Amino acid sequence: MNRPHILMFGATGQVATEMVAQSEAAGFSLTALGRDQADLTDPGAIRSAIEAAPDATVAVVNAAAYTAVDAAEDDAATAEAVNAVAPGVMAAACARAGYGFVHISTDYVFDGSSDHDYAESDPVAPLGVYGRSKREGEVAVLQALPDAVILRTAWVFSAHGKNFLKTMLRLAESRNELGIVDDQRGGPTPASGIADAVLRVIQAGQGNSGWTGGVFHYCGAPAVSWRQFAEAIFASGAKYGQNVPKVNAITTADYPTPAARPANSVLDCARIKGIYDIDQPDWRRAVDADVAALVAQN
Ligand SMILES: NC(=O)c1ccc[n+]([C@@H]2O[C@H](COP(=O)([O-])OP(=O)(O)OC[C@H]3O[C@@H](n4cnc5c(N)ncnc54)[C@H](OP(=O)(O)O)[C@@H]3O)[C@@H](O)[C@H]2O)c1
Repeated sequence: MNRPHILMFGATGQVATEMVAQSEAAGFSLTALGRDQADLTDPGAIRSAIEAAPDATVAVVNAAAYTAVDAAEDDAATAEAVNAVAPGVMAAACARAGYGFVHISTDYVFDGSSDHDYAESDPVAPLGVYGRSKREGEVAVLQALPDAVILRTAWVFSAHGKNFLKTMLRLAESRNELGIVDDQRGGPTPASGIADAVLRVIQAGQGNSGWTGGVFHYCGAPAVSWRQFAEAIFASGAKYGQNVPKVNAITTADYPTPAARPANSVLDCARIKGIYDIDQPDWRRAVDADVAALVAQN
């Protein structure tokens, strides 16, 4: 019997790589489309890819995005095409074909001024081009396919691609002292956990419990500042003989970036637990596993 099939946009990113690694064990066949097979700035290529999906297809996943938050400030047209227009084109094509659609979004839809963890129902107010483009993508997706699942996540890390964990390990090789921002808080999220959550949503859609659409928050626990996250990464590195730099707490104002970041990025993940029984991952375990894998590579 043919396994149920997932068509995924994105092949090389953090989440896409984990989806490729986990899909077979979750009972699915998966086609990962890289930029050369479907460039997200080309709506025709997106439509054609979905129309050509195999008969066994049950869901489409969008794991690709324009994720260069600072570069987006000077490249709004591309960020809009990839993050706002393309997801809407995907959702419309899924609606025509009768496929489920899972789209990944971000904490950057919020301005970070809340004094509580962000719930799905909290008002959005993106601070920059990237966040605005991702929010427009959410709106376009839900307009075209109200039953789509939008998974908002934050502070993604893994042993591959570009992320904070890898940057910290690299800096630890050459620096004995670092200043790390201590007034932004978030839930670091292993890309492996996101892939697991996406696959479990699609499994539920196949089974008796069924598919529930809308926006869901999913991030790692416990919530920490970037400084605390860095210290946990260095503590993990120390177990494998890595240099441990002294970490000084600095403020957002001490580390200016082209795009403003939300001070509070912590997502309330009760809805995905209630509907899909998906728990927040403990990011500390994933940090240890990723650090071990990266040290073994060196
Ligand atoms: N990273 C984070 O901290 C973070 C936080 C919150 C939410 N998210 C969201 O989580 C999702 C996955 O993020 P990630 O960290 O896994 O991303 P990532 O590692 O930065 O990978 C992005 C992927 O998008 C692809 N892509 C970019 N522009 C494209 C285009 N024009 N056509 C086709 N593919 C294109 C890239 O392909 P190439 O390799 O060819 O460039 C790459 O495979 C995204 O929706 C992101 O917005 C991420």
